[in-house]
Amino acid sequence: MSKVLVKNIGRLQTPVGSYAHKGSEQTENLVLDNANIIIDNGMISEIISGNGEHSKARVLEVEKEADNVIDAGGHLVTPGLIDSHTHMIFGGYRQHELPKKLRGATYLDILREGGGINDTVRATRAADEKTLYDKTSAFLDETASFGVTTCEIKSGYGLDFDTEIKCLEVLKDLNKKHPVDVVPTFMGAHALPPEYADGKNGGKVGFMDLMIQKLLPYIAEHDLADFVDIFVEDEVFSPEEGKPYLEKAKELGFDIKVHADEIKAIGGTELAGELGAKSAEHLIVTDDEGIEALAKGGTIAVCLPGTSFYLGSKFAPAREMIKKGVPVAIATDFNPGSCPNLNLQLMINVAILKYKMLPEEILTAITINAAAALNREHLVGTVEIGKQADLLIWNVDDFNMACYRYGSNLVDKTIKKGEVIYEQR
Ligand code: NIG
Ligand code: FE
Repeated sequence: MSKVLVKNIGRLQTPVGSYAHKGSEQTENLVLDNANIIIDNGMISEIISGNGEHSKARVLEVEKEADNVIDAGGHLVTPGLIDSHTHMIFGGYRQHELPKKLRGATYLDILREGGGINDTVRATRAADEKTLYDKTSAFLDETASFGVTTCEIKSGYGLDFDTEIKCLEVLKDLNKKHPVDVVPTFMGAHALPPEYADGKNGGKVGFMDLMIQKLLPYIAEHDLADFVDIFVEDEVFSPEEGKPYLEKAKELGFDIKVHADEIKAIGGTELAGELGAKSAEHLIVTDDEGIEALAKGGTIAVCLPGTSFYLGSKFAPAREMIKKGVPVAIATDFNPGSCPNLNLQLMINVAILKYKMLPEEILTAITINAAAALNREHLVGTVEIGKQADLLIWNVDDFNMACYRYGSNLVDKTIKKGEVIYEQR
């Protein structure tokens, strides 16, 4: 048994309840002033609040028997943040695309010329396991420094059997060894690789056969992913091409996610709603019908403000989604092309300004709704008795300040299962 006390919390702010919060519930946070959290074996066992004699006596009692006491310094504490959408495993970078973009090339122009995702596919195929492991491990260290304690990572820069499996095995290893919990998503249907271009090897049909006949069953059998995702986009995969892949994934027991409406609305959101996807992600150009499909399917909207910012595009209609009862999560989309940034705090600031979401709605979006998008809502995403002690001690006193100050790292300590995994010096 190990006992940890987190004492001297000026303000504890957290959503409550182990489910995705939608509509007006997205705004509801519990706020406790003067709180202390007791952790037994990495799980929250007691929350003491208030400045009364009884509370003070109980804190002193626990302090005596605790193996470790962490002083929050009177600051704000929230649940550890959850980044529910990243593409954090890849070879190389794509800084050479920047001048092309500045001269007017669009994301899809670069992809069409064999660059973009396919550029990263070449580098990922060439990278060995250790290189990928070390690189992603360093990204996880960086995300922990910004307060993230659980992180989804999608494959999808291999696009052949060996490289997709290599990446998923590296993620499995990282999940065992890195303190940040890694939730792996298989995203083999991320782009059509060159060996299937121009009808070679059966074109898209041949590629989807590889996914459906070989990769999905292997990944299910070896338990290498929690979710299956696809890029439904103009010039990438249509809803008709994606449907059998997602249906096969469901049949094998995976929950599904869909990259939808990132650049053009071609029906990805409707497909996500129809198939009851756990989440639809991006949703930059989603219209009212798409929002209704999500509400009907009970699908979580994972909105990615950093991608809109980096692509110079519109921002997802997050307010409309909340109004129509769709639970909204916010994530980074960290990847080498459309969002080379993994600072989830920066996404808070962009969401405030561009989605016009309220601070409380944002906290819900990066904690419990993100947890629900990863099927972890019973384990993490709120500070409640029985939940894993994944906490963030900020170096500010209230969450409005975290939303207002942008570009700085406002983390004092990141705590995973009761242990400090990052501390700002
Ligand atoms: O989520 N949309 C597809 N995938 C990534 C970008 C991938 C890349 O450009 O490397 C995204 O934006
Ligand atoms: Fe993405």
